[in-house]
Amino acid sequence: MASSSSSFSSIAIIAFAVLLVVVFTGSSSAQLSTHFYSKSCPKVFTTVKSAVQSAISQELRLGASLLRLHFHDCFVNGCDGSLLLDDTSSFQGEKTAGANNRSVRGFKVVDGIKSKVEKVCPRVVSCVDILAIAARDSVVTLGGPSWDVKLGRRDAKTASFSDANSTENLPSPASTLSDLISRFQTKGLSTTDMVALSGAHTIGQSRCLVFRDRIYNETNIDSSFAKLRQDQCPRKTGGRKNLAPLDLQTPTAFDNNYYKNLIEEKGLLHSDQQLYNGGSTDSLVKT
Ligand code: HEM
Ligand SMILES: *[C@@H]1O[C@H](CO)[C@@H](O)[C@H](O)[C@H]1NC(C)=O
Ligand SMILES: *[C@@H]1O[C@H](CO)[C@@H](O)[C@H](O)[C@H]1NC(C)=O
Ligand SMILES: *[C@@H]1O[C@H](CO)[C@@H](O)[C@H](O)[C@H]1NC(C)=O
Repeated sequence: MASSSSSFSSIAIIAFAVLLVVVFTGSSSAQLSTHFYSKSCPKVFTTVKSAVQSAISQELRLGASLLRLHFHDCFVNGCDGSLLLDDTSSFQGEKTAGANNRSVRGFKVVDGIKSKVEKVCPRVVSCVDILAIAARDSVVTLGGPSWDVKLGRRDAKTASFSDANSTENLPSPASTLSDLISRFQTKGLSTTDMVALSGAHTIGQSRCLVFRDRIYNETNIDSSFAKLRQDQCPRKTGGRKNLAPLDLQTPTAFDNNYYKNLIEEKGLLHSDQQLYNGGSTDSLVKT
């Protein structure tokens, strides 16, 4: 009797745990785990890493571009790979939405990594997991910190142009500090998370049309830095697509110069300088 009642209670506990998982994560998804592919595709990490390293060795900027793809995917209906989808007859995708059009890049590299992963383990690893690993490997390759990537995300079969075009999701470079804080808060990310994640702007490039207003019109900018950037970004016509590094010191090294620049009023984007402009996040930038 004792043994049958104890096995009954074990079954009840297991059933309750299963119910909790089903209720809180939905039946089609489960907890993400760093071990998700340890049996089905143990080579996924080495495969992605060597492909990321080879892409970055051909063009250093690609590390920045891959990291940004992960951000722009995750901030529009979660990390589901929807940014990677082209337009179809049934939906307009996210690639041409305001923050993405002619701006996000690196899709060919992602496709190339996916092909390599398909060769070692066909039809196992999701594209969105590949993007999450590639973002981490990019940061590490450029000298930044590492983190464990939890896996098991499912790829979306649809994408939303309008959700990607909404500044409620992807923050605009014209944002105020309170806009930035609330955009991240909506995604469950704190102000500290927002300032830390913004440190991604220690790598990569921006186009003149994005920072033109700042370098000609704003007052919280170092004047010699403004003049330097004005050289390749004319006030009135032309040069809209000319690029400048988001971190003027070390644009291909993942370090803390982004924050040091902000303290010297050398943030390139209006939104960057918002993090150090006499407001509540100044102390976090210094930290
Ligand atoms: C805090 C709000 C943010 C705003 C307003 C913002 C805005 C921008 C803008 C306007 C550009 C330049 C786009 C262009 O000229 O084509 C850019 C580039 C970039 N952003 Fe952000 N961003 C933000 C946060 C982030 C976060 C959280 C990440 C990643 C964790 C990130 C990663 C990048 C990278 C790496 C680039 C350079 C990409 C490349 O060179 O291809 N950004 N961002
Ligand atoms: C994307 O940019 C191109 C070139 O500037 C433009 O022709 C196109 O209309 C833009 N797409 C959207 C959806 O705004
Ligand atoms: C995308 O959003 C911008 C505002 O950020 C708006 O001006 C534009 O009309 C929108 N495009 C479409 C096609 O809805
Ligand atoms: C700067 O401000 C003036 C006056 O508000 C405006 O006309 C101009 O378009 C702004 N941008 C640049 C790049 O000068």
